[in-house]
Amino acid sequence: MDIAFRRLRPSSDPEPLIRFLTGESWPFHSVSEVDRETARQWIADGRFDNEENRSFWIDDDDTVGLVRLMDLTDDTPLFDLRIRAEHRGRGIGVRAVTWLTRYLFEELPDIRRVEGTTRQDNRPMRRVFLRCGYAKEAHYREAWPAMDGTVHDTVGYAILRRDWLSGTVTVPEWDDEK
Ligand SMILES: CC(C)(COP(=O)(O)OP(=O)(O)OC[C@H]1O[C@@H](n2cnc3c(N)ncnc32)[C@H](O)[C@@H]1OP(=O)(O)O)[C@@H](O)C(=O)NCCC(=O)NCCS
Repeated sequence: MDIAFRRLRPSSDPEPLIRFLTGESWPFHSVSEVDRETARQWIADGRFDNEENRSFWIDDDDTVGLVRLMDLTDDTPLFDLRIRAEHRGRGIGVRAVTWLTRYLFEELPDIRRVEGTTRQDNRPMRRVFLRCGYAKEAHYREAWPAMDGTVHDTVGYAILRRDWLSGTVTVPEWDDEK
């Protein structure tokens, strides 16, 4: 499977992005049902394309997903990833995180790390982090109130530039309170 990443400029043509966001539910995002008004507002706010944020369509035969890179002027960028439901479980998530990690380290020569967070029960995303060389660094208990009233833990992963370069994974020193 050959997938491609295409920079998204939603201010000139917002409709494809509005359709993508509103076309299905996103249960592992804090807003799981995005309505058109919310999508429009996010686009107008520059959430997908401004100095801090850049976004890319993931193209296979069709547009299958969206990568959003955030905090691009900070020391540690973050990312968000959405694959359309019918295209999940085909390895696109692993390819996308591999691609965006390289993109960030190459585009931003001063950053040392890339971070991502997800809900504790998002098993596919947690596998993607591990498959792509990210280490679990954070566990925030009851930090994720979902729209259905349930509360979940949030988990945080990151990759270091030096690990990315060497193909190793340095885990945090957890047992440091002896
Ligand atoms: C999370 C997401 C990006 C993963 O992308 P994907 O293309 O489905 O993932 P992949 O096909 O690359 O699979 C990655 C791993 O997850 C595993 N996986 C896939 N679906 C799974 C499931 N339902 N339960 C457990 N593991 C699962 C795969 O087996 C693979 O692990 P392996 O390498 O051990 O076999 C995608 O499912 C998605 O967009 N989900 C909705 C939005 C979301 O949760 N985004 C993350 C926000 S941080």
